[in-house]
Amino acid sequence: MKLEKPLVAAGLMFSLTVGAVFAASHADNPFAAGIKARQAQMQIQSFNLGILGAMAKGESEYDAEAAVLAATNLMHAVSIHQPQAWAPGSDNSAVEGTRALPAIWQNFPDVGAKSAELKAAAEEMKAVAGTGAEAVGAAMGRLGGACSACHKAYRAPAN
Ligand code: HEC
Repeated sequence: MKLEKPLVAAGLMFSLTVGAVFAASHADNPFAAGIKARQAQMQIQSFNLGILGAMAKGESEYDAEAAVLAATNLMHAVSIHQPQAWAPGSDNSAVEGTRALPAIWQNFPDVGAKSAELKAAAEEMKAVAGTGAEAVGAAMGRLGGACSACHKAYRAPAN
């Protein structure tokens, strides 16, 4: 099998290159843990929003207890105030592994207003989550709108 050697060599070259890039991005990025934490917060928001969204659309059966739990978790997740996870210099023009736009750090009042709107929308959802799929659906518009308003302004599109 004459082909094997070049293939093995190519594979080794590839893993060495990937390894070097990985090591460099971590060594150069003191914000890696904070970025991971803020993305994890977003994931928890998204997970719970998804549970409510599926019930609102009838993709999963409405369950009052599960809806209230998801809305409660969502409210807690959006209430996490963790400025250390949003350190200046941790934007996508400066470091790898984030879609946070530099504009966040230039528009604190607006970012704060968008966060406050999200909290208000999450509270509204929690107040009605136990009352039926229709109510969950009605509260979903404001909630989903609050997520996407901030993403449009402050999150880079996915590659
Ligand atoms: C105040 C602004 C703001 C609001 C409100 C907001 N987000 Fe985000 N979201 C961001 C930013 C900025 C990022 C990019 C973070 C990064 O990559 O460092 C992000 C990233 C995400 C991600 C990707 C996380 C990852 O693993 O990379 C998800 C999912 C997400 N948001 C869901 C939501 C949901 C669901 C809501 C509403 C319940 C929401 N977001 C509300 C600003 C916001």
